Amino acid sequence: MSLTDRILQSMDQLPPFPMVIQRAIQLIEDPRSSAQSLVDVIQFDPGITANILKLCNSAYFGLRKPVSSLREAVVMVGFDQLMEIVLSQESATFLQEPCKGYDLGQTDLWKHSVACALLSRIISKRLNRGVALTLFTAALLHDIGKMMLGQFVQDYFGQIRGLIGEKPLSFNEAEKKILGIDHAELGGRVAEKWKFPRSIILAIRYHHTPSQVSEDRDVVEMVALCDVVAMLTGIGGGADGLTYHGNGEVMKRHHLNEKDVEQFIVKLGDQFQLVDETLKSERGGEGKSWLTMS
Ligand SMILES: [Fe+2]
Ligand SMILES: [Fe+2]
Repeated sequence: MSLTDRILQSMDQLPPFPMVIQRAIQLIEDPRSSAQSLVDVIQFDPGITANILKLCNSAYFGLRKPVSSLREAVVMVGFDQLMEIVLSQESATFLQEPCKGYDLGQTDLWKHSVACALLSRIISKRLNRGVALTLFTAALLHDIGKMMLGQFVQDYFGQIRGLIGEKPLSFNEAEKKILGIDHAELGGRVAEKWKFPRSIILAIRYHHTPSQVSEDRDVVEMVALCDVVAMLTGIGGGADGLTYHGNGEVMKRHHLNEKDVEQFIVKLGDQFQLVDETLKSERGGEGKSWLTMS
C-alpha cells in the first residue's frame, strides 16, 4: 500500500466529529434554519448545553438576568454569536491536542484556528464586508487536516525540510511531493466526509492555493488572507509558519499593507486574550464580550 493510501486510510480511524457540532455546521448554510433549529440540535447534548449556559452567565456577557435555558440563551445572545461560542469551544476538543510534525504543542493549533476565526471578523469589518458565520467557521476549521497529517509529517520531516532547502517550495507543496497529499487536501476530504457545507470544504481544501478555485472564491480568499495574518501574529505558530508562498499577493489583492496588519494584530491581541481567558474559565473579561467587540 502506498504512503498516500495509508494516509487516506487513516481517515477511517478518525474519532467521529461530534454529531451535534456536525449538525450545527450544516445549519449555517441551510436557509430554513432558525435559532430554534440550533436549540433543537444542541439540547440533547448536556455537556454543550452546560457550557453555553455557564458562558452566557459569566461576567463577560454581563446579562442582567441569568439565563436558565438554551432558548433564553439564543434570545439573549443571538444565533450567530451562540454558534461562534459553540464552535470555538467545541472545536477545542478536536484541535487542542499537540501536533508533532508541525511542532505545535498542546492548544497551539486551536489558538491559531481561533485567531484566524477572530481575524475573519476583524478583517471583514475593515474591508466593509458583512460578517459571515460561514467564513468564521471555515477560518476556525481550515487547518483541521494537520491533526491527521501531523504524525506522517513527523515521520518524514527530514525529507520535507530537505526538499524545502533544495527547491523553492512552500511547506504544503513539499508535503504533497513527499507524502502525496498536503494538509489542506486531506482536511478538505475530511470535511467532505463529515458533510460540511460546500463553501467550507472548499475553503479548507484551497486555503493555501486560493487562486485554484473558481467556486466560492470569496470565502476561500478570505480564509487564505486570515491565515496569512494569523501566521504573522505568531499566535499558535508552528514549524511551517513562514514557509508558505503567495502571502504578499493575497494581501495585495485586498489592498492591505503592513500598517493594516499591525492594526489587525493589535485588535486580535485584545480579543484573543478575552477568548482565551473566557473559554478557559468562567471569570470572564470585565463584562465585555469578544463577540461584539470591534
Ligand atoms: Fe494550512
Ligand atoms: Fe493555518
